[in-house]
Amino acid sequence: MAQLCVNVDHVATVRQARMISSPDPLEAALIAETAGCAGITVHLREDRRHIQDHDVKRIRKSIKTKLNLEMATAKDIVEFAIKTRPDQVSFVPERRMEVTTEGGLDVTIRQKRLRGIIERFARKGIIVSLFIDPDPDQVRAAVDVGADAVEFNTGQYSLARTRRKLASELHKIDKAASLSATLDLATHAGHGLNVENVRPVASIEVIDELNIGHSIVGRALIVGFHAAVTEMIMAIGKA
Ligand code: PXP
Repeated sequence: MAQLCVNVDHVATVRQARMISSPDPLEAALIAETAGCAGITVHLREDRRHIQDHDVKRIRKSIKTKLNLEMATAKDIVEFAIKTRPDQVSFVPERRMEVTTEGGLDVTIRQKRLRGIIERFARKGIIVSLFIDPDPDQVRAAVDVGADAVEFNTGQYSLARTRRKLASELHKIDKAASLSATLDLATHAGHGLNVENVRPVASIEVIDELNIGHSIVGRALIVGFHAAVTEMIMAIGKA
């Protein structure tokens, strides 16, 4: 069964709406752990629109499961991550004006820079995952730059509104996941997943980690954080 890493960014989004100290993403992270998640994911964006540096440090200190830090390859964020020592970093492309991460990294055009950065994390024993679209060229490039894992962008799959489009997006993820597993990369997926659409993705056997945030935080407003995480773990378990 794929393991669930709960992304708590949007707990911080609600807090930042008032620039005060609650709700606290650490509190949500600790509840998610008691509900049985395998890890906590946070995205420290360059514009600090939700998660702040102090959140990452506090979560790092307090959680018992793994910390996955999503980040761009900007120099100051890389230095922060090296110092803070998450268990895993996931490199994502970042654009200031985007509402959320809009697509995967183009690893094929950034090989030299990525290789250098990945080497630094590898020396510290930090796992490196690259958030990419389900494209075989990107998977091969991820191997070339020395990544440990890839996370397939399920954004297009989650936006598909016809059966045909859904099947074709799922097929792309399935094929790319087989390739990444064959090439010995750990295989993750995420973006836009919810209890209704997670099952087909979770059924792809080689996918071992799912990063899910917005739908869990949204559902938590109605049923509470523990129940929302439990619902998602059960939906993944049905795969
Ligand atoms: N994976 C990556 C790389 C992301 O950037 C995000 C969004 O922060 C997610 C997964 C989770 O996406 P969602 O919030 O739509 O579940």
